[in-house]
Parts: sequence; structure tokens; C-alpha cells
Amino acid sequence: MDMKRNRRLQPWPGSSSDRGSVGGASRPASERKTGGILLRLAMILVVILVFIPLMPIVSRSKRNPLRPAAEKGHFDVNAGLDEEFIESSKSQKAEVDKFLGGLLASGIEEQSCLSRYQSALYRKASSRSPSPYLLKRLRKYEELHKKCGPNSDLYNRTVNQLKPGQSSPGITECNYVVWISYSGLGNRILTLASTFLYALLTNRVLLIDRGVDMTVLFCEPFPWSSWLLPLDFPVSQFKSFDINSPESYGNMLKNKVISKGLAGALLPSYMYLHLGHDYGEHDKLFFCEDDQNLLQKIPWLVLRSDNYFAPSLFLIPNYEGELHQLFPEKDTVFHHLGRYLLHPSNSVWGLITRYYHAYLSKADEKLGIQIRVFESESGPFQHVLDQVLACTIKQSILPEISKNESMIITAADHRSKAVLITSLSTGYFKMIRNMYWEHPSKTGDIIGVYQPSHEEHQQTEKQIHNMKAWAEMYLLSLTDVLVTSAWSTFGYVAQGLGGLKPWILVKPENRTVPNPPCLLAMSMEPCFHAPPFYDCRTKRGVDTGALVPHVTHCEDMSWGLKLVDRDEW
Ligand SMILES: *[C@@H]1O[C@H](CO)[C@@H](O)[C@H](O)[C@H]1NC(C)=O
Ligand SMILES: *[C@@H]1O[C@H](CO)[C@@H](O)[C@H](O)[C@H]1NC(C)=O
Ligand SMILES: *[C@@H]1O[C@H](CO)[C@@H](O)[C@H](O)[C@H]1NC(C)=O
Repeated sequence: MDMKRNRRLQPWPGSSSDRGSVGGASRPASERKTGGILLRLAMILVVILVFIPLMPIVSRSKRNPLRPAAEKGHFDVNAGLDEEFIESSKSQKAEVDKFLGGLLASGIEEQSCLSRYQSALYRKASSRSPSPYLLKRLRKYEELHKKCGPNSDLYNRTVNQLKPGQSSPGITECNYVVWISYSGLGNRILTLASTFLYALLTNRVLLIDRGVDMTVLFCEPFPWSSWLLPLDFPVSQFKSFDINSPESYGNMLKNKVISKGLAGALLPSYMYLHLGHDYGEHDKLFFCEDDQNLLQKIPWLVLRSDNYFAPSLFLIPNYEGELHQLFPEKDTVFHHLGRYLLHPSNSVWGLITRYYHAYLSKADEKLGIQIRVFESESGPFQHVLDQVLACTIKQSILPEISKNESMIITAADHRSKAVLITSLSTGYFKMIRNMYWEHPSKTGDIIGVYQPSHEEHQQTEKQIHNMKAWAEMYLLSLTDVLVTSAWSTFGYVAQGLGGLKPWILVKPENRTVPNPPCLLAMSMEPCFHAPPFYDCRTKRGVDTGALVPHVTHCEDMSWGLKLVDRDEW
């Protein structure tokens, strides 16, 4: 029996099952071991005594007051991590950088959000470092959030201005952007990252509407103070704000309730920003410099969107300099902000790590395939399967099959590939799995095909469904090579978190396999599906994908906009 494999980290010290073996023949060995440990401890002590005076004083992490009660009792996630796995992850990366290059602050209690500190064990270290300026701004943001967050004195004072009959006090110390939980999970993750970027740019505090499942899906991202909008938020109707709401910036402009020359004191204390895909021309003025100057005078902005609107923020002159400093590499916005902000809750982390260890961790190579079909019928469709195979085989992502059934493969001298398929239907998974069961691969590679869940149709705000969807996006982000469907926000999240440039399956027309079947993405950034095409200065239509080199049209949607790392034409 391979003892090494069986030795698992136990949740409680001393509960190890091999404790009973102390005594008899094993005693001398364990004593030798104890002697070795003592020696090592002594050496560590010497190292500490010598080096501590040389090290900068690191502030000790204080306990985080926030700790969602619902998350307690989920600590057994640790039990799924075997020592061998931790050791091998460490040796591969010299030292596991659990703070992701300084992106994550210390000061959040580890047990309250295991994914925050363990993600580095599962994901290859990112080749893209956050800029020192981004790190500085994140720390500054955390201070602001602490000062102005829920229950702080300043929050209480600012929220009082929202009570009926109050007008805007002009300049306030704390300003907020409230994110409304809206749309499918992939979209929500993209809008959260965009809204947080907007908060950073405008020195606002991000507070989120918890919707039906935000607290079940995500950890608190900021040390010291919650990001959840308090339930007694006085603008109680905010969740029903939509394109027709008179409180929207677009409608206030259209109805001439406000105008750009208006002094702060005459402006309302809150405004609704409608940035959903169906937004109108007045709403789109949000992306203009003058309008941003006006919005800066409003302490409370309530924002609803289902789009990754970050690319258009790069076209607003007010923010250009700051964005350039924050993201010298323009194609890393979601990669850094997503990994900073979005940590799976302990329950979702359990789904992720159990699946990972059961099906993916042993493979030499991991491939993720996200299949999203935009047809009214549920499928599976032959042309989609053909397209997936045409893409993966043409690009040598998956091997061809051999018709020589007598080719026998032994595990010892062949590589293993784990293929993780995510799709609403199980048809593609079954067909690909059977293909590699019924036939050997020409390369001799051993192909294991797995699909965590299937729901047959997309459901929006259902808890366990979304927990699994989040786990699947995250698992895809842990793969080495990623193939995604055009237009899929689910795929965007996976590629951004994973730092992966995916192969994008071109959207099929007329139910035929497109030629080429897939394209390599220009960058790992998500696509903004509904950008404005308006030149704020000339007040005319303009191709916003042709104004600056780093904001260009998406591979998978010709009218969409995405960020690429390109400073020269
Ligand atoms: C802010 O108000 C809440 C109740 O609305 C209260 O519990 C809290 O103590 C207040 N915070 C401060 C600092 O006064
Ligand atoms: C089929 O594979 C076996 C084992 O690898 C090999 O000996 C044989 O020559 C192959 N047959 C053909 C027709 O390629
Ligand atoms: C799809 O089919 C329609 C009608 O058969 C045809 O007019 C159109 O050009 C086809 N589109 C493509 C991209 O092949």
C-alpha cells in the first residue's frame, strides 16, 4: 500500500488513524524522526533570530469581524487536500504565493474564506503581475471601505441624506456605488468587476445588493468591513429600477430634471444608472466626460448592468491617466480585479476542490471546453459536436482517434489528458467520452472526459444551480488550455480568472460548422456586448472600437468592444 498517498491532513491534530501504531517495532523509527524534528526546529529558530531584525515589520493580521455565520462548519474542505498535493504544488512554485503578487491583503481570517488563500495551490502562478500602483490603490480602497462601509459613522450620516426630502449636500466624504444583483451569474461577475473598477476610478465605495444568492456564492472581499448593502437601505424600491425609472440618469436628462450646469446642491442625493444591454441614448451618456463630471457630485449611484462595461471606461478622458497607471498591461483588468474581488464561498470551494481532486488533479494536462449553444432548442446538435472536434483536433488540443483497435496503451509511458466539459446538455460530453473509449488515440494519450453538471436550460437566480455554475467556471479557469463558445460570459469569467487566452468557437450560422471552426483570442479580457457608439465631443456616431489601440472589436462579436494589450497601431 502506498502510505504516502494515504497520509491525509486531518482536520483535528492527533486524529490521524496511524496514531495507534506508535509502540512496538515502529518506536525506534518514530524516535529518530522526533530527533530530526527537534534539530530542524532548532535550525528554524536560529534562522528566525538571525533574520527577524532584518525584515520590515509586517503588520499582524487582525481578526476579521465579518464572518458569515452560514459558512461556519464548512472547514472540512481541508480534508480534501492531501499532503502530497500541497507539497508538490509548493515545489513546483518554489513558494506558493497565496497573496497573488500582493493583490490580496492580509487581514481576512483564513477559515472564513478558504478559497482566498488556497487558490494559489490549484492555479498556476499568473504570468501577469499587478502594477505597484494597482496594489497601492487597492490598499487605499480598503481603507476607504473601512471608513465608509456599512455601520460606520460616515455611512450612517451619508445614508441619512437619502431619507425623503433631502437634497444633495454637495461634497461628501463618502460616496457610493450600489450594484444591483441582476442577470445570470456569468454576467453578474462581469458587471461586479466593471462596477468595482468604476468605484476605484471615482473613489466610491462599492456596496452590493445581496440578491437571492450573493452571500451563498462569494466571500466578503474587503478586510474590516462588509460589501453587503444593509437591508435597511432607505431607497427601498431600488431593485425595481429599470429603463423607465424617472430616477435614472438618462431619464432625468431626457426629461430635463437635471442639466449639466446645475450646482451640486440642486442635484438629487442618489441617481440610478441604467447600463443594461437595452439602455437608451441618454443612459449611454454615462460614458462621456461631462456627464462623469456631473455624476461625481452625486453621493449615491445605484447601478444595474448585465455587461462588462470596463472597455468603454477606457475611452473617457477623465480616467485615461489613472487607468494607464493602474493597468499598464491593458488586457489584465478582469484578470486582476476578478482574482482580487471574487472568491468562492467555502461551500462553493468544497464543490471545486472535491471535483478537482476526484477528476482533474492527476492528469498531465487539463483541457476545458465550455459549450454554449444559442439555439431555441436544447440540442445536442451534430454541427456543434463536429465544430468542437474540428477545432480541438485541428489545433492539436485533442488527439485524433485511431481505427487500429489493437493498439494497446499502457499508462506508464503515455500522457493523460483530463477534458472538463461544461454545457447545459450532456450530449457532447457523452459523445466525446465514448469516442475516446471506443477508439485509441493516435498519439496514445489517455483521454478522460468529465462533465460536472447539466441543467438542460439556463436558470438565473437559483441557489444550488448557481453554486455549481460558479464552481464550473472556476474549474475551467484551472485548466491549461481553454476552448469557449462565442458570446459566452461563462467562458469569459473562466479565461479571465485563469489568465488564459482561449480558443473561441466561432458562432455557427445555419447550423453548419464554420470555417475556421475556432480562433485564438487576442486577449483574455471579456467582451463588452453592448457598447455605445457615440463621440461625446462631436455628438455624432463613431466607431468606438477604432479610437485607441487598446480598445478594439471582439473576435466573437463584431460590434462588441474588448481590451487588448496594444499600445502601437
Ligand atoms: C450606524 O447605525 C446603525 C443602525 O442603523 C447602528 O447599529 C450603528 O451603531 C451606527 N454606527 C455608528 C458608528 O454610530
Ligand atoms: C495496430 O497497432 C498494433 C499495436 O501497436 C501494431 O502492432 C499494428 O502494426 C497496428 N496495425 C496497423 C494496421 O497499423
Ligand atoms: C444561411 O442561409 C440563408 C438561407 O438559406 C442564406 O441566405 C444565408 O446566406 C446563409 N448564411 C450563411 C452564413 O451561410
